Amino acid sequence: MELTDIIKAAFEKAYPGEDFSFVRVLPATDPKFGDYQCNDALKLSKKFRANPREVAAKVVACLPTSDVDVASPFAKVEIAGPGFLNLTVSTDWLNAQLTTLNAQSKCGIPQSGAGKKIVIDYSSPNAAKQMHIGHIRSTVIGNAIDRIFRSLGYEVIADNHLGDWGTQFGILIKGYRELLTQEERDNLSVPYLEKCYVLSAAKAKEEDGVWKESCKAELVKLQQGDPDNLALWRKFIDISIAEFNRMYAKLGVKFDTYRGESYYNDTMPGVVKRLQEMGLAVESEGALVVNLEEEKLGVAIVRKSDGGFNYTTSDLACVEMRVKEYDPERIIYVTDARQQLHFKQWFNIAGKMGVTAKLVHVPFGLMSFQGKAISTREGNLIKLDELLAEAKKRSLAIVESRQQPAGGVAVTAPVAEDSDGTGNDALAEAIGYGAVKYTDLSHDPITDIDFSWDKALALEGNSGPYLQYAYARVCSLLEKAGTYREPPSAAAGNSRLASAAGETHRGTGAFAVTTPSEKRLALQLLEFPGAVVRAAEAYKPSVLADYLFQTAQLYSSFYQNSPILKSEESVKNARLHLCALFGNVLKTGLGLLGIETPAHI
Ligand code: ARG
Repeated sequence: MELTDIIKAAFEKAYPGEDFSFVRVLPATDPKFGDYQCNDALKLSKKFRANPREVAAKVVACLPTSDVDVASPFAKVEIAGPGFLNLTVSTDWLNAQLTTLNAQSKCGIPQSGAGKKIVIDYSSPNAAKQMHIGHIRSTVIGNAIDRIFRSLGYEVIADNHLGDWGTQFGILIKGYRELLTQEERDNLSVPYLEKCYVLSAAKAKEEDGVWKESCKAELVKLQQGDPDNLALWRKFIDISIAEFNRMYAKLGVKFDTYRGESYYNDTMPGVVKRLQEMGLAVESEGALVVNLEEEKLGVAIVRKSDGGFNYTTSDLACVEMRVKEYDPERIIYVTDARQQLHFKQWFNIAGKMGVTAKLVHVPFGLMSFQGKAISTREGNLIKLDELLAEAKKRSLAIVESRQQPAGGVAVTAPVAEDSDGTGNDALAEAIGYGAVKYTDLSHDPITDIDFSWDKALALEGNSGPYLQYAYARVCSLLEKAGTYREPPSAAAGNSRLASAAGETHRGTGAFAVTTPSEKRLALQLLEFPGAVVRAAEAYKPSVLADYLFQTAQLYSSFYQNSPILKSEESVKNARLHLCALFGNVLKTGLGLLGIETPAHI
């Protein structure tokens, strides 16, 4: 039985017939208050106009006690201050909880999403452009939310809502035919498409307006289904998706569908017609608008004065299709915070049109790079590909420097050969890409963040490499102790990444928590399932990242304060068992953030 349920039962016994659904037991904010605390007697005292300490005492009197009732989890219950319950759990209870957690698959993550479906719309870059550093946040945050919800048992449809329709395609088609060389056309790539766009867009600004008009004409032909223009458009999209997929493969990101804006093209007129019939959309200065002044959301255009549709129309058409096709309980959109008004507006309109699925916008802040704002105008947009290459290069240098102590002899065991002949290639990718992701995920999405190489790749402090090293250290400890064997199937590939791909290790002994630092770690490990749930509820992978960082810190204080390999057999085994559980939690948690955990670094 959960601690919250036990305390709730005591409240119910003390005050029969009342609703105690608000009662919560939380980890103590400070160990000096015990292990857990419950502050809800205070709320009750207001209701009963009673002294809060008396209310608390009445509840305590209804708790199971360890001398009479063997099932009591508490070694000590104290009433503090204005009726706080400070709870200290018994070692037996703690060891039993650890055993249960250890036996559960996925480290006890509750399957609360079983039978529920959600759609996550993330990454969603615009076609015909290379992904740059600005695309990292939607991709990485969205993917972590995707993984977290899947781990809770939800059926997740990850949809990449590509920007694959609009005026830029008229400019591109015209430019492709007349401004690219035959050679460039034959070897068409995203960089050539970018070049084509820049050249053609510049010509579209010429005074006489001739080029601009013919770009428009190409766009109209495309919209009307002209086969040549459609084929070209398809080609541009296919090349763009192949390039995006190259980035996603590096980042370990997978989508279930790639339905871009174009997919909803044919249904937009119907949506607008319905908005008119419902009296929601009205003509205003030639455009069709939905007035949301009452909700303080301004006015949303759903058909421009030139008759064209816009981003709002496309999102409304898209949501209707998703609801019809998947009937999800929730749809989550991960985009930058500058789109907040857009989402508020169309969520409101969708509600009025009868969409009942919960619509969630997860906005994220801006990212600067090494202290400088990133802007297209300044020309300092770093390509994602280049950022990842640099991350790998820098990580490789760190890995190699750690393998070359004075005398130049490698300290790690020989490993399976990699493309560079050392096995370090895959390791550098795991560390470098992990560092980039963790920088993003360790901050609340809404905050603006600055990416700095020093912070991202720091081996100490709140960084991806710090957590990966913590994991590798546990693995080597367990290996040294001889309780941990690498699974043969995974080891056959790259032994350095074996444990990242294989089954997690599991100790065999029994838990026997003794020292205070051991207890702090044990209590923290029990919070893992709750941290995953909280991260999902808040749509903030940072909640999980914070939890993992704190856990690694508690592990390191346990490790420093409690001798392991030198302890006598039973203590040693119990501690190794706790180390293995920590390893599993860390590996599972980092996995939910999309970060690999090499067993050897
Ligand atoms: N393509 C858009 C951009 O680059 C993001 C699309 C987000 N998804 C959506 N359904 N609006 O900003």
